[in-house]
Amino acid sequence: MRRISVFQKSLFVLILVASSTKVSAADGLPALDKTAANKISFRKDVWPIVKRHCWGCHSGMDAKGGLNMDSVTTMLKGGDSGGMFEPGKPDDSLLVEMITGDEPAMPQKQPPLSMAKINILRGWILAGAKDDSKPGDTQPTVKIPRTYKFAPAINSLSISPDGKLLAAACRSEVVVMNVDGDPAPRRLPTECDLLTHVEFSADGKLLVAIGGSPSRYGEVRFFNPADGKLVAARRVGHDTLFRGSFAPDSKAVATGGSDGAVHIVPVDPKAKVRSFSLHSDWVLDVAYTPDGKMLITGGRDNATKVCSVETGRLLRTIDMSSERITAVDSTAEFAFSSGKARTLNGFEYKIALQGIEVTGSGNGSRPVSRRNQYVKGLETQPGEVLDIAVSGDRKLLAIAGAFGEVRVYNTADRKRVTLIGKIPAPIYSVTLNTDGSRLAIGSKSGQVLLYEVPSGKQLKTFAPVPVASQDGVAAK
Ligand code: HEC
Repeated sequence: MRRISVFQKSLFVLILVASSTKVSAADGLPALDKTAANKISFRKDVWPIVKRHCWGCHSGMDAKGGLNMDSVTTMLKGGDSGGMFEPGKPDDSLLVEMITGDEPAMPQKQPPLSMAKINILRGWILAGAKDDSKPGDTQPTVKIPRTYKFAPAINSLSISPDGKLLAAACRSEVVVMNVDGDPAPRRLPTECDLLTHVEFSADGKLLVAIGGSPSRYGEVRFFNPADGKLVAARRVGHDTLFRGSFAPDSKAVATGGSDGAVHIVPVDPKAKVRSFSLHSDWVLDVAYTPDGKMLITGGRDNATKVCSVETGRLLRTIDMSSERITAVDSTAEFAFSSGKARTLNGFEYKIALQGIEVTGSGNGSRPVSRRNQYVKGLETQPGEVLDIAVSGDRKLLAIAGAFGEVRVYNTADRKRVTLIGKIPAPIYSVTLNTDGSRLAIGSKSGQVLLYEVPSGKQLKTFAPVPVASQDGVAAK
């Protein structure tokens, strides 16, 4: 398949280039054929290139260089430096200048466009940059229904530090509900196809939503939970971001990427994102230690790791599971991780990181093999684990997954405190409030259930978004 498509592309360039009515070209660029150029469709030929290579950075509220490439109209308008091209004159344009040459400036930090793609863009401009798109062809694909046909799964949940608000990640929107049930929930839209994480900051002043669009961009949005206003938004990388964690000082979030990196994204939109490559596969969850000095990470490479926030350096791979690690969390004494293998382990930092300095020039290469001394196993779970939550006071830990129960443990002695059963499975998300007296779970069926701990008494059921038919709630 791939061979054929490359062949087809080069054929296309050939048709485009080798012809009679040649138009003079800029330095090093092949001449274009006007007849072939006239056949180029914005919708079929140009937009797929823009969408794949440019749109992730040049769209939405944080469009780079002030350039929004959502449509032909916005492309004609151009960015901070003015027009990007004039129809009919591809080779005098900023656009072609940016994507050609020995080291093309665009797409930034990515491989240059192939000559075939460059010539499609040039040919389209040459032929007058005509717009044959229909409404909806090129607009962001993220559409948030007023009323859902089927309730979206609840991928992540968070209870505000004062216990009054409950935030849920529902596909592309964050829904902030009042725990008392009154007034109506507040729906906060994002430009993510899918949100993977929501969390209130420890000071309660911010709410973060993390997610993105596959093969396009990761997105992090900070909201003010008091009025629902957007505080800052930014795009990070070129793929959906996974779960993360708010820094204890409320100034940044750390989140996992499909590139094996952990990204520390500051709330301040002018401060730089820091990214460290730690895993050899997707980083599915990240948690800060309560002092904000270390990050614990778990990934699809089955590893649980600890790194320094200051240096970004790996301190130690504290565990290798036989299956992927989907959830991690931390108290001052222990890192916790779990995943598909169903085992739940605590790792005692004091022993696991002995001889390893957290900041400065740590000697990470020192051989340590005290695994049996620092690993403190908890109960094996009945199925694949999907989420772990620690209460704000770090005294309790709750765990949930592809099975119809949630278990809660004391983090100090790792004894089970309560088991809440008969919950519709799978459970995608779990959260605890500050003192561990309330627990909320989010299920695949789209419901949010609130419980009292340790009694296990169910207090409430929330349906965060309006759903057309009640059947939808129970849909698989
Ligand atoms: C990874 C992000 C990223 C991608 C992908 C990307 N750009 Fe950019 N682009 C930027 C940034 C950032 C700027 C702002 C100027 C700078 O810092 O170089 C910019 C600026 C520009 C400008 C100048 C805007 C102005 O008016 O000043 C043009 C034109 C441009 N990009 C075209 C493209 C095209 C065409 C593509 C796709 C082939 C593309 N970019 C892909 C990040 C990106």
